[in-house]
Amino acid sequence: LFASFDYDLAIVGGGPGGYVAAIKGAQLGLKTACIEKRGTLGGTCLNVGCIPAKSLLNSSHKYMEASKHFKDHGIQFDKLSVNLEQMMKTKEAAVTGLTRGIEGLFKKNGVSYLKGTASFKDPHTLMVNNSEEIRATNVVIATGSEPSPLPGGILEIDEKRVLSSTGAMSLNEIPKSLTVIGAGVIGLELGSVYARLGTEVTVVEYLPRLAPFLDLEVAVNLQKILSKQGIKFILGAKVVGGAVGASSVSVKLEPANQGADIPRTLESDYVLVAIGRRPFTQGLHLDYIDVTRDKIGRVNVNDHCQTLKHAHIYAIGDCVRGPMLAHKAEEEGIFVVEHMTGHGGHLNYDAIPSVIYTTPEVAQVGKTEEQLKEAKIPYTKGSFPFLANSRARANHDTDGFVKILAHKDTNTILGAHIIGPMAGEIIMEPVLGFEYGASAEDVARTCHAHPGFGEAIKEACLATYGKTINF
Ligand code: FAD
Ligand code: NAI
Repeated sequence: LFASFDYDLAIVGGGPGGYVAAIKGAQLGLKTACIEKRGTLGGTCLNVGCIPAKSLLNSSHKYMEASKHFKDHGIQFDKLSVNLEQMMKTKEAAVTGLTRGIEGLFKKNGVSYLKGTASFKDPHTLMVNNSEEIRATNVVIATGSEPSPLPGGILEIDEKRVLSSTGAMSLNEIPKSLTVIGAGVIGLELGSVYARLGTEVTVVEYLPRLAPFLDLEVAVNLQKILSKQGIKFILGAKVVGGAVGASSVSVKLEPANQGADIPRTLESDYVLVAIGRRPFTQGLHLDYIDVTRDKIGRVNVNDHCQTLKHAHIYAIGDCVRGPMLAHKAEEEGIFVVEHMTGHGGHLNYDAIPSVIYTTPEVAQVGKTEEQLKEAKIPYTKGSFPFLANSRARANHDTDGFVKILAHKDTNTILGAHIIGPMAGEIIMEPVLGFEYGASAEDVARTCHAHPGFGEAIKEACLATYGKTINF
């Protein structure tokens, strides 16, 4: 399609953004190379993110079910124990299977996989491991992100006692106690894993609430449910110091707002630092080619994910603006390749779902109630509790609710917020509705299979105009 260079498309990074862009590029007829330094494909998500986290969440959930809930279903046994080594092996098997699978997909689609670290020599030339030089017509930067450290060098991550998510997912013992700094997605997911396995988990959060991106009503509900599961929360607390001992860590806290009554020190076996992630572009030599970054290190791009100075250099995924989510990176991977080949290319950033894989799961799309209030958008709210959903009752899984926010005048869906069983799966119905500009009534008039968790969505849609049947 494009002449005179080694490749039509070179992609730096083999994570969800990069590998998907590479496959799409090859499918659209581009001679494509993907350069990845990790040794395996799949990036953060498959190697040290989404997949190992979900594997451990699933295994620990099974243990929690067996230890706390099986007896309610008439299933009894005498002894129950955790084999952490086996749990970690199961996690590794999921990771290895999936990352190797991508290598297979590269072969199938004819993508060249170059193992090594890439850096720019000039806007069309990349050095691989400072030795091999490749030239490409188009380049996609998909180098992802890394854990943010605590400011001021407090409790530096050593992956021994002070852990990032990576270290926390490969411990060889179940900690007696774990302090989690940050009540965001990682803190709540990995905090849940260890709390279920018997660890005393304390989550410290700077803000007076957990998960600031969630609808407040959902966040408050989630905190109550996780507290019942044994997780302790210290909200409105600032970490001001810490010391690492041979087998424990102490964390010094101060109230974020004066006067709040919080413990001043916490002692635990391990600390997990989960206060967000930051874009990773180290070693790319972006300065050689005038590709700029914003104040927090994200590569500056336009609406088509093109860097500002060079239309042929794109950047996608965690290293640019927008939510740091695998599916967002993947969609950008598709659309930039479509854009560079003249096939359009589009992503509706308002319709990106997000899920927290706790028990119960939490899922959302669109605006929160607080955002609608702030933007002065008139809305109606329809809520439906899983306590009134027959599938949830049959399964004895009734925590949580669905909340649908619809425009007051048109009933168009503006936001959907679910905390409850399978929230991460059933959210796709409102996502699709939202993407297609559906009204809540459109969803409510759609026949839903019974008994199903999805019926709670239908009922919450009915509730936006006061016509629920089952509540
Ligand atoms: P990455 O996946 O970070 O991939 C970038 C790749 O580029 C890396 O493999 C890196 O080695 C490589 N690279 C960097 N620089 C160079 C270079 N110079 N040369 C060659 N290669 C280079 N998201 C979800 O949507 N759902 C989840 O459930 C979820 N769970 C998560 C759980 C955890 C514990 C973590 C940490 C993250 C989770 N995420 C989840 C976020 C998700 O992992 C990221 O949003 C996603 O991986 C971003 O994809 P990416 O392609 O932009 O970057
Ligand atoms: P996060 O942004 O989700 O949460 C960080 C939390 O730490 C926030 O609540 C913030 O207020 C708090 N915080 C920040 N500084 C602090 C400090 N100094 N002291 C105490 N609290 C502090 O970040 P997290 O959990 O690290 O995850 C990083 C990224 O990974 C997220 O952006 C998320 O998109 C992605 N991810 C997605 C998952 C999913 O989709 N299920 C799972 C795990 C991660």
